[in-house]
Amino acid sequence: SGAYLAHFRVWRGDADGGGLEDFRVEVHEGEVVLDIIHRLQATQASDLAVRWNCKAGKCGSCSAEINGRPRLLCMTRMSVFGRTETITVTPMRAFPVIRDLVTDVSFNYTKAREIPSFVPPAELGPGEYRMQQEDVNRSQEFRKCIECFLCQNTCHVVRDHEENKPVFAGPRFLMRIAELDMHPLDAAPDNGLDRRRTAQDDHGLGYCNITKCCTEVCPENIKITDNALIPLKERAVDRKYDPLVWLGNKIRRR
Ligand code: SF4
Ligand code: F3S
Ligand code: FES
Repeated sequence: SGAYLAHFRVWRGDADGGGLEDFRVEVHEGEVVLDIIHRLQATQASDLAVRWNCKAGKCGSCSAEINGRPRLLCMTRMSVFGRTETITVTPMRAFPVIRDLVTDVSFNYTKAREIPSFVPPAELGPGEYRMQQEDVNRSQEFRKCIECFLCQNTCHVVRDHEENKPVFAGPRFLMRIAELDMHPLDAAPDNGLDRRRTAQDDHGLGYCNITKCCTEVCPENIKITDNALIPLKERAVDRKYDPLVWLGNKIRRR
């Protein structure tokens, strides 16, 4: 126990390029990687750029990569590393660097905007429908998302494939489509919006080959692949090859 000096290697630079810079920095009992980044700012690198807000794993701002693994800086305890280990901190790889550890995550906001929001049935009055607990639970799991975009950064479909970005929404937003499609009151289909078809045709659901890397990095432990992506694929296939299934679902929901 007690304080010790750690060896940090931090990526510094901007859109034009950069490289890893070495630091020796003090570490105290109970600290997380974000504490050490803050100590670097306070003592050795006052212009080191890092994005953070809550330091409690809830705002999703401090996403980066530690020893090549996508993680939240504020939720990664220093105690998981050996005291002599070099700890390398780099910005998320799938998004363009702004400066140092800060990336431009606007890809994700673009994708979010492409998904039409929940459409309540026009004729339904307040209190006229009671949600089943099963439906509540399912959407509550998806709603734990803190929009850290670590899953988006990790998915191999876009991680090293900039060219796939226009046609692939990524796990976080395919999950959003799944949530809306599973919602018993989403009236989008009655209004001519087939979410399953758009997931396939416009948001690249077919690019996901269920490798589950997204699920592995999710700090909220949301079962993105098992509970959102695979069910959405199954629903989309039903729809594609058997229009009667879709029609049946449509009639049953009335
Ligand atoms: Fe982050 Fe998980 Fe949400 Fe993806 S689903 S953005 S990993 S919280
Ligand atoms: Fe990508 Fe997750 Fe599918 S990592 S390939 S979205 S299961
Ligand atoms: Fe908010 Fe890390 S600072 S999640």
